[in-house]
Amino acid sequence: MIRVGIITASDKGCHGEREDLSGAKIAEIMEQHGYEIAKKVILPDDQQMLSEEMVAMSEDNIQLVLTTGGTGFSKRDVTPEATKAVIEREVPGIPMAILQYSLTITERAMLSRAAAGIRGETLIINLPGSPKAVDEALNYILPSLKHGLDILL
Ligand code: MTE
Repeated sequence: MIRVGIITASDKGCHGEREDLSGAKIAEIMEQHGYEIAKKVILPDDQQMLSEEMVAMSEDNIQLVLTTGGTGFSKRDVTPEATKAVIEREVPGIPMAILQYSLTITERAMLSRAAAGIRGETLIINLPGSPKAVDEALNYILPSLKHGLDILL
């Protein structure tokens, strides 16, 4: 079973002011597809904390890290920067594919700065913040993702 780590980047979620619907949505979809949710955390929009969690997950034998939130234009949105700081090999095709598909649903998809890349044997992918966006993006990339992970391990 492929072990998945889920990171929700949300100042409000972290302080208990907002329910983590997006993280829960990712867990639900991944479990439906036979993945194991090894760890699920909510962190504030803090670049260093997000990077450290990504590194910890990759060292904890987690093969896929999915983040949600913090990819937009707000000054607090730093998830792509946290990701780019820890990946060794960029995977531009995944955010491109998500963008291409998402633009058929909403033009606002262009506002996501999401990144993806590989650190060691761990693939890290940024998803947008809303449960709706997570649902759309994840279901679109899942069939191809399996093949990529098979090659990576
Ligand atoms: N992608 C999909 N598939 N569906 C959506 O509804 N919303 C967009 C975009 N990507 C959206 C989407 C919007 S409105 C924003 S602002 C950006 O993702 C960034 O969201 P984030 O800052 O919560 O990560």
